[in-house]
Amino acid sequence: MPETRSPISRRQFCSGACQVASGAALATLATACSGGGSPTSPSGNATKLGVSNGRFNGSSVQVNVAGTALTETSGAVLVESTAGVFLLARTGANSYSAIDAVCSHESCTVTGADGASYVCPCHGSRYDRSGQVLQGPARAALRQFPTSFSDGMVTIAL
Ligand code: FES
Repeated sequence: MPETRSPISRRQFCSGACQVASGAALATLATACSGGGSPTSPSGNATKLGVSNGRFNGSSVQVNVAGTALTETSGAVLVESTAGVFLLARTGANSYSAIDAVCSHESCTVTGADGASYVCPCHGSRYDRSGQVLQGPARAALRQFPTSFSDGMVTIAL
C-alpha cells in the first residue's frame, strides 16, 4: 500500500510558522534581557573615577590632592566645581593634566578610566590624558587647561 501524505492546510502551515517565529523572538528577547554583566556596555572595562570637589575662585579651580587618587602618579579623578567638570590626572612627580570632562560627542560627563584612557559611559568614546580622541564616536578633542601645583593643591587655570 503506497504511503500517502495528507496535504497541509494553509491554516496549519501558518500556525506552525507563527509558533517557530514566536519561539525565536522569545529566545532573542531572553538573551537580550538576561543581564548578569554588560558585555555590550559602551564603557567596556572602564572603572568609575573618584570625584573631587574643586573650589572655583573666579579664574581657576583648586583641587586638594590629599586623600585622592592624585597622590599616585597616573592617578586621576573627576573634579566637580561650580565652573564645570574636569578630568584631572597626575602625570609626574609634580605635574598634572586637566581637561574638560564634557564629552564632545553628545555632552555626557566622562566618568570612567581604563588604564591611561578616559572613557565616556554613554557611547564609549575614549580620550587620552591630553584630551585627544582615541576612539569614537567622538571626533573632537576635549579642551585642555594649564595646571600648576603648590602646597598639595592643583590649580586648573581657566
Ligand atoms: S556622549 Fe560621550 S560617547 Fe556619546
